[in-house]
Amino acid sequence: MWTGTFHVLADARVLALHQEVLAPILAASSSTVEVEATEEAKSLEQLPKYVAMLAEQGTRRGHSLLCIGGGILQDITCFLSAVLYRGLPWTFMPTTLLAQADSCIGSKSSINVSKWKNIVGTYTPPQKVVIWPGFLDTLEDVEIRSGLGEMLKVHAIAGPAAFDEIAADYEALSNDRTLLLRYLIRALEIKKELIEQDEFDQGARLVLNYGHSFGHAIESATRFGIPHGIAITIGMDLANYVAFRLGRAPVELFRRMHPALWSNYRAFAEYPLDAAAVAEALMRDKKNVGDDLRFLLPSPTGVIELVGHQMSDDFRAILGDYFSTERAA
Ligand SMILES: NC(=O)c1ccc[n+]([C@@H]2O[C@H](COP(=O)([O-])OP(=O)(O)OC[C@H]3O[C@@H](n4cnc5c(N)ncnc54)[C@H](O)[C@@H]3O)[C@@H](O)[C@H]2O)c1
Ligand SMILES: [Zn+2]
Repeated sequence: MWTGTFHVLADARVLALHQEVLAPILAASSSTVEVEATEEAKSLEQLPKYVAMLAEQGTRRGHSLLCIGGGILQDITCFLSAVLYRGLPWTFMPTTLLAQADSCIGSKSSINVSKWKNIVGTYTPPQKVVIWPGFLDTLEDVEIRSGLGEMLKVHAIAGPAAFDEIAADYEALSNDRTLLLRYLIRALEIKKELIEQDEFDQGARLVLNYGHSFGHAIESATRFGIPHGIAITIGMDLANYVAFRLGRAPVELFRRMHPALWSNYRAFAEYPLDAAAVAEALMRDKKNVGDDLRFLLPSPTGVIELVGHQMSDDFRAILGDYFSTERAA
């Protein structure tokens, strides 16, 4: 399976936790770069260090890279694959649930520059993705829930029936590995279909941002105190509430999805969140057009649609109501 000359970029924590399984792969590789998976590590400022290490360890045109890790290692390797020697093929072994169920397909790299998160990037798909579920055994519960957030999202995009199915099985998902894998594969199939229609984010793929304008605003307002997949779970709940308050979708839609979403973010249901700070962050969202906010809201039948709306006192009041009463209820 591991043929040709390849170099490994790996999450240091994963290397330590899964030494036995990874030993034959590392033995077959020409070199290994270990990276501590932090947001700092995927910054443009850190990239010269990885380039120098790979070059010193003999990486050349025609070699390939193997990434072992979650979204952080994915972003680093994906970006390096695009630019090192003007392009090297790469293989991805995702090790977090978020990466296995969601980010491993989609081909994007997102790199931080200074205080700007994910501002630089490329579309550079791996040649192969190898999913080994055993990596999930060592993940912390909060990381599992972060991955479940993205899985709930794609099922919601597939339609109310798909969401209701995963929602009914939600409590069993963290203990039943076979069930989790069934939904993981389903999540990848749903996402694959959208990406095949729209690889470069021009249309169909935009719905994958459901929960993300609000989620990113929540991440920003809490200085990334809430993990991504959990922030977007709150973001979906808030989007459903906003859709109800703006008269776009019935309150029943919000109420139907709330229990599963709440279960997924429950550890953060009381996390201090300031509606004014979330509103400020929403106004900086890169999808906005001029003063018009852009976000994805459900229609009455649960179809996710891109909607424009002005920031106003009424809108701020809706956010305030959600954070003060609806989120923790
Ligand atoms: N490019 C994309 O398409 C894309 C999509 C989603 C997220 N992202 C980015 O990915 C990052 C988040 O990625 P993530 O949530 O997959 O995780 P991560 O890479 O941030 O890792 C989270 C933590 O889990 C640890 N870890 C990883 N695998 C483990 C394992 N098997 N056992 C124990 N611990 C393990 C890591 O060391 C780290 O401490 C963010 O920077 C986000 O912007 C990118
Ligand atoms: Zn996401």
